[in-house]
Amino acid sequence: MADPYGVPQAGAEAPAMPALRWEEPPEGPVVVLLDQTRLPAEETELVCTDVPALVQAIRTLAVRGAPLLGIAGAYGVALAAVRGFDVAEAAAALSYARPTAVNLAYGVRRAVAAYDEALAAGGTVEKAAAAALAEARAVHAEDARASARMAELGLELLGELLPGGGHRILTHCNTGALVSGGEGTAFAVALAAHRAGELRRLWVDETRPLLQGARLTAYEAARAGMAYTVLPDGAAGSLFAAGEVDAVLIGADRIAADGAVANKVGSYPLAVLARYHHVPFVVVAPTTTLDPETEEGALIEVEQRAGHEVTEISLPHVYVGGAETGVALPVTPPGAQAYNPAFDVTPAELVTAIVTEAGVVSPVTRDALAEVCSTSRFG
Ligand code: MRU
Repeated sequence: MADPYGVPQAGAEAPAMPALRWEEPPEGPVVVLLDQTRLPAEETELVCTDVPALVQAIRTLAVRGAPLLGIAGAYGVALAAVRGFDVAEAAAALSYARPTAVNLAYGVRRAVAAYDEALAAGGTVEKAAAAALAEARAVHAEDARASARMAELGLELLGELLPGGGHRILTHCNTGALVSGGEGTAFAVALAAHRAGELRRLWVDETRPLLQGARLTAYEAARAGMAYTVLPDGAAGSLFAAGEVDAVLIGADRIAADGAVANKVGSYPLAVLARYHHVPFVVVAPTTTLDPETEEGALIEVEQRAGHEVTEISLPHVYVGGAETGVALPVTPPGAQAYNPAFDVTPAELVTAIVTEAGVVSPVTRDALAEVCSTSRFG
């Protein structure tokens, strides 16, 4: 293989703007998103003035990634409450906007509980709305703290697993500041390694079909000045075979009680490759992604997405004659069927460790996960 170890790109910046923020302009409160469907070409804000707009942003992946979905869900409830919409209806619409990331329903539940408690304590609707907003801010801040702690614990773990330093890390999908109140999950660990001078290369799976790796992880890695290389998902096998991967770091959308990990489709094949090649496969996820109520991986609902994401190359935001339009180029014969699950499920036996803010679980067993749950939000 030609020397893949180039000089890291210059730069040490986070994404251009926060992935999500709450604002209160004179016209009324809004949730402002960095529109992830437009990155990296455009750093554009998407302003949600109501819950249907936020639900649409969640479905189209303008806002995405498990921890950020939890934060979005909580602010969505606050938005409905502060603007005087039906909170229960808003909560249901938000919770079911996407089914797999358990954080979404968790964030919604937290804000609704704060709202209901304030009402039950005799508070006015305005007080209850303020309580929902305060809870959304708390969910946001807690995720930032969890992210920082996971980065510390993950860096320590890498040091133990790979004592030689000079890590070459393979990652899948996007798990940085774009999905978090802080610097993310798996990406935050790679970033900590980069800052410690211990990251030799970040291998970035492009992540078909919506290219979260090629578009978003590459964007974040470039801005942070990391040495990174994008590869087609199907090239990961030859990279392992060439001995170019020291560890796999990924995030998670839901972790069942038995330790099975749902994450972006393509994660499970990486776990199988990692086992075959004796490479650690490490999952980094806050405890808000643990779901003790789902007994086993087979019971995790995996989102199935529209077939056109596979059968077409779609450029949703192009400008023709100064006007924005969408272009979709068919790549299959007309009528081709597509299989397009958004996630897959990796059994615990293939996972070397799960790094949470409440501690590292390794080996991954039902009991060890229950123990971490008891010292976290479930305690
Ligand atoms: O469909 P997406 O882009 O929302 O999927 C996101 C992922 O699969 C991430 O890897 C996961 O949410 C972990 S992010 C910390």
